[in-house]
Amino acid sequence: MDVNRREFVKSAVAMGAGAMMANRALSAEGGAEGRVLNVGLLGAGTQGRVLMDDCLSIPGIRFRAVCDIWSYSQRYASRRLKSQYKKDGHEDWGESVNAYEDYREMLDKEKELDAVIVATPDFWHAEHAIACLKAGKDVYCEKEMSNTLENAAAMVKAAKETGRLLQIGHQRRSNPVYQYALRMMRDDKVCGRLTICYGQWNRGVQPKLEWPDRYEVEAATLKAFGFDSMEHFRNWRWYRKYSAGPIADLGSHQIDIFSWFLECDPSRVLAMGGSDYFPDREWYEDVLCTYDYKTKAGSARAFYQVLNTNSYGHYFERFGGDGGAITISENPKKCYYVAEPGKELPPYMSGIETVLVDGHQAVPLVTAISNMGPEGKAAMEAFQTKNVHQLHLENFFAAIRKGDPKELNCDAAEAYKTAVAVLQVIPAVEAAGGVAFQAADFKA
Ligand SMILES: NC(=O)c1ccc[n+]([C@@H]2O[C@H](COP(=O)([O-])OP(=O)(O)OC[C@H]3O[C@@H](n4cnc5c(N)ncnc54)[C@H](O)[C@@H]3O)[C@@H](O)[C@H]2O)c1
Repeated sequence: MDVNRREFVKSAVAMGAGAMMANRALSAEGGAEGRVLNVGLLGAGTQGRVLMDDCLSIPGIRFRAVCDIWSYSQRYASRRLKSQYKKDGHEDWGESVNAYEDYREMLDKEKELDAVIVATPDFWHAEHAIACLKAGKDVYCEKEMSNTLENAAAMVKAAKETGRLLQIGHQRRSNPVYQYALRMMRDDKVCGRLTICYGQWNRGVQPKLEWPDRYEVEAATLKAFGFDSMEHFRNWRWYRKYSAGPIADLGSHQIDIFSWFLECDPSRVLAMGGSDYFPDREWYEDVLCTYDYKTKAGSARAFYQVLNTNSYGHYFERFGGDGGAITISENPKKCYYVAEPGKELPPYMSGIETVLVDGHQAVPLVTAISNMGPEGKAAMEAFQTKNVHQLHLENFFAAIRKGDPKELNCDAAEAYKTAVAVLQVIPAVEAAGGVAFQAADFKA
């Protein structure tokens, strides 16, 4: 029996069976072996807290450490953990959560960590993930895996060399509505031969992030961790030094789905971007791009756009072919199928009440998948009741418990392919391909 298992059994005996049933962190669902996993959170900002909260809903996950260079984030996460563990009747867990500023100190002192969740700005991902892997930890690292392909490749290499698990946070890979949609298209051919993918993330104008004066990080700390100013520290997404911009930040989620569903990598990308709407931000705010794919069934094209100047239509992905089109999103209301005229529906779609979407009779996917039997029903319940990241984290922890990297829904090698497809949009914008017009061309 390893230390973690011994600890689990000890706690279970101490608490008594009744209390244990009531404690979600130690419920019988704690994993096939009921092994409690010790976890560190590296980067406790907006997304780090989302992932932390999702982990608090997963049985058998115990945070031992929080690491963040911002005392505000550090304190917020530590307090949240202490208060939740207290509510769960686990004061001892809360009391033993340690806070760190420097990840090296955390790795040095927290030898018992099984895994680290990395949710720092993208330019830190490679250094953080590689150090954790080399320290023998399994790693869940947020997307975009890195803002450079060189660093993303180094992450793949480190995972291979250390034999540790590295899951990248493309959470749609663990989302049952995406998994079932893929099955419908691949196995049941509901869309016929796929010829077109479409994706968008349309977001309205948002002001820059601010901070209260009393939480200003000292200039020396900012410098030591690579940030040029407090404004850059808060708005790192908009600067070339720290991020690859909105196409990576938002597009990586959705461009990832294109290759996954088409079962091949793109063969070419053309792109355009605008960087003149916000005079004080570096990255392209609006990017439109088109990919060419050579699938087993023939050629297909994909169009993707990310906007930061208009929110109409928000975000979704759509896959179309000569048999119909599936639209999917992390929003259950935006998941539906529209058949081409004359297309015969599979049994699980027959007799379902359709809804009118943009003038089309659409079959709601959640209802169709729920019709596929108890497994489909349970999958849609999970989709509608669990947070989207929780499912991806659950996949990560299940893979750790099995000790099998092949169980990961988005390992580093798979995510690297997405990083290539996404990050190459930037040179494609810079290349300004296509045909340039001169004013004279429009005069007959
Ligand atoms: N999967 C998703 O849906 C999703 C959603 C949002 C963000 N993200 C990703 O999560 C990551 C974090 O994004 P965010 O929105 O939380 O950013 P954020 O700026 O809100 O948080 C980043 C945190 O990291 C800390 N930090 C910065 N450098 C550090 C260092 N060297 N060591 C320790 N801590 C450090 C900051 O103090 C801050 O608390 C990014 O990679 C982003 O792309 C993913």
